[in-house]
Amino acid sequence: MPEPARLGTLLPHRRPTPVADLPVAKPGECPEHPGNNATFCSPCASERKAANPNARAEMRAERVRQDCDRRFPRRFRDAQADHPGVLAWIDQAVADPDNAPSLLLLGPVGTGKTHQAYGALRALAPEVTGREWIATTSPDLFASLRPRPGADMEADFARYRQASILLVDDLGAAKNTEWVEEITYRLIDGRYLDMRPSIFTTNSTPAELRDHLGDRIASRLAQICTPIVLDGPDRRRTSAA
Ligand SMILES: Nc1ncnc2c1ncn2[C@@H]1O[C@H](COP(=O)(O)OP(=O)(O)OP(=O)(O)O)[C@@H](O)[C@H]1O
Ligand SMILES: [Mg+2]
Repeated sequence: MPEPARLGTLLPHRRPTPVADLPVAKPGECPEHPGNNATFCSPCASERKAANPNARAEMRAERVRQDCDRRFPRRFRDAQADHPGVLAWIDQAVADPDNAPSLLLLGPVGTGKTHQAYGALRALAPEVTGREWIATTSPDLFASLRPRPGADMEADFARYRQASILLVDDLGAAKNTEWVEEITYRLIDGRYLDMRPSIFTTNSTPAELRDHLGDRIASRLAQICTPIVLDGPDRRRTSAA
């Protein structure tokens, strides 16, 4: 009986690469591409990008989510929008962030406007590229812009005007003066012209808002905002914390 063919004779012989022929990466060098810095190796970055074309957008979105965790007021850190109208606004805005409408949440004290506003901001912020998002209250916004020695009010104003998303809580709550009216007009008109989405909350009715802010601002808000009225009892009086 003939001896069975030995495996070694059936497979083509491959000479192992001598260890001395392998490129050796120095500390800090990319092991795949010696000579390149391990952290910023551009062939590796291109390979990663080719494997997942959305990698950059996903990393950016993750950074924005972490920024929300860090900068949201503690009470609203975990706020999730759950109002059907707000959820519909989020769907529309996320589907087309470049043309996202603004959101105007109206209603009496304690009905959850600020909660819905932060929930909406958290949902939309990772989708919108551009400058940072800003969340503030209308009294804080005006306080931060008051002329004071050493402050560059126009530079501060530009941050609000150019923010990728601006949340202004309690619109119409600041004491009305000619200066407040002028800043409000410049801010809303500037964002209106650039078509940047904002999220506003207010305790005022639309008629009170028009009386307080004036016709020109109210007209722009009417064009760019999806208005949603929240009602029901004051949630602070019906919840424990
Ligand atoms: N959908 C929700 N789920 C859980 N808690 C909520 C919800 N909406 C509001 N709350 C809680 O109810 C309280 C009141 O909500 P919020 O501050 O948003 O009301 P508001 O309408 O902004 O009130 P105000 O007009 O006084 O500013 C807060 O403690 C908030 O965390
Ligand atoms: Mg509020």
